Amino acid sequence: MIALGSDHAAADLRRIVRDYLDENGYDYTDCGTDEAPSDYPVIAEKVCRMIQRGEADTGILLCGTGIGMCMAAGKLHGIRAAVCSETYSAKFTRLHNDANVLCMGARVVGPGLAAEILHAFLDTDFEGGRHQRRIDMIAELEKKPE
Ligand code: RB5
Repeated sequence: MIALGSDHAAADLRRIVRDYLDENGYDYTDCGTDEAPSDYPVIAEKVCRMIQRGEADTGILLCGTGIGMCMAAGKLHGIRAAVCSETYSAKFTRLHNDANVLCMGARVVGPGLAAEILHAFLDTDFEGGRHQRRIDMIAELEKKPE
């Protein structure tokens, strides 16, 4: 299951992503929003809580740049979010970082590139091996006192 969300700046891109997911047979929950204006941390939390509760395994978060969504998502335990504006990063953040949230910026990528990025991200599996140790180290950082 994929949890999908955007703020007002990326509502059009969210509809394009929905079309891509429909055409490619993915199950998803649309966490909104169609409100304008809207606050991206609210949507980031909705999508990431679904992952934390085990209701989704992957999140897609869209805002103007993708950056605000990524910053907000990264504050939540167990979330490994990556902003991608090209396909190489989308592929390697799955292979090496086991990213579970893809963030994109509607003011950065066009619809065609967004579809290519989605394909690279959703069709690539985590490589494991030496990369698992580093993922574990990221999780340890969440537990360390300041
Ligand atoms: C909204 O104007 C914009 O700030 C937001 O979509 C996002 O780009 C923030 O990172």
